[in-house]
Amino acid sequence: MANETTEPIAMIAIDGPAASGKSTVGRLLAERLHYLYLDTGCMYRAVTWAALQQKVAIGDETAVTQLAHDIQMEIFPANGEEDGRHYTVHVAGQDITWELRTPTVDANVSQVSSYLGVRQEMVKRQRAFGQRGAVVMVGRDIGTVVMPDAPLKLYITASAEERARRRTQDRSEQGHIANYDDILADVLRRDQIDSSRTHSPLRPAADAIRIDSTDQPPAAIVNAILQMIQEPVNGNR
Ligand code: CDP
Repeated sequence: MANETTEPIAMIAIDGPAASGKSTVGRLLAERLHYLYLDTGCMYRAVTWAALQQKVAIGDETAVTQLAHDIQMEIFPANGEEDGRHYTVHVAGQDITWELRTPTVDANVSQVSSYLGVRQEMVKRQRAFGQRGAVVMVGRDIGTVVMPDAPLKLYITASAEERARRRTQDRSEQGHIANYDDILADVLRRDQIDSSRTHSPLRPAADAIRIDSTDQPPAAIVNAILQMIQEPVNGNR
């Protein structure tokens, strides 16, 4: 899909299953275009972390939804930290960026994000962020629900084995014990919950461009996308 005017694209929506490479592609694309970047998964992870922290039962939809409304969450671009982070997440002023990536959060986040009230509150915050324009937003329902009018939608997939391999590598590079079989099981379980839930299930928007990243490094995908959006249309650019 090409940009048919000389106007820059205001919003790029990227969706896809767990560890499909969408966050890396989204972040690199935002860097190259000098756009803002929002990884919406971290918002559902932050609500999950807060529920676990406050010992709110994950199965208590009313209490988790209330928490999603009350949570004071801020997301900042990384600012020279040397721990490999790409952004910083604060909840009530506390830096919880790395707490969001624990296996316990992985194990509970899909249940939290299946709750309608939680989604409504997060989507409201995501749309407010999108109003700033020049945004790359990454998640599960950005092209279908959060930003259905986004002029460019991408749906990035990869085989489950490749996704588990990448996540295992990320985890061990971050100094954690990472077991491939456990990670593969978590990825498959989250895919299953995320794609079969009632509210905003994971699926490509009808007009999304599908990209299989199994055999392609993120930089190659980013270059292909940039070429796609910058290519001359009818020879008039
Ligand atoms: O990085 P990874 O693909 O493993 O996950 P993530 O993007 O951080 O998302 C974590 C979880 O949040 C997903 O498994 C979904 O349950 C949920 N999520 C969602 O429901 N909607 C979004 N827009 C983003 C994430």
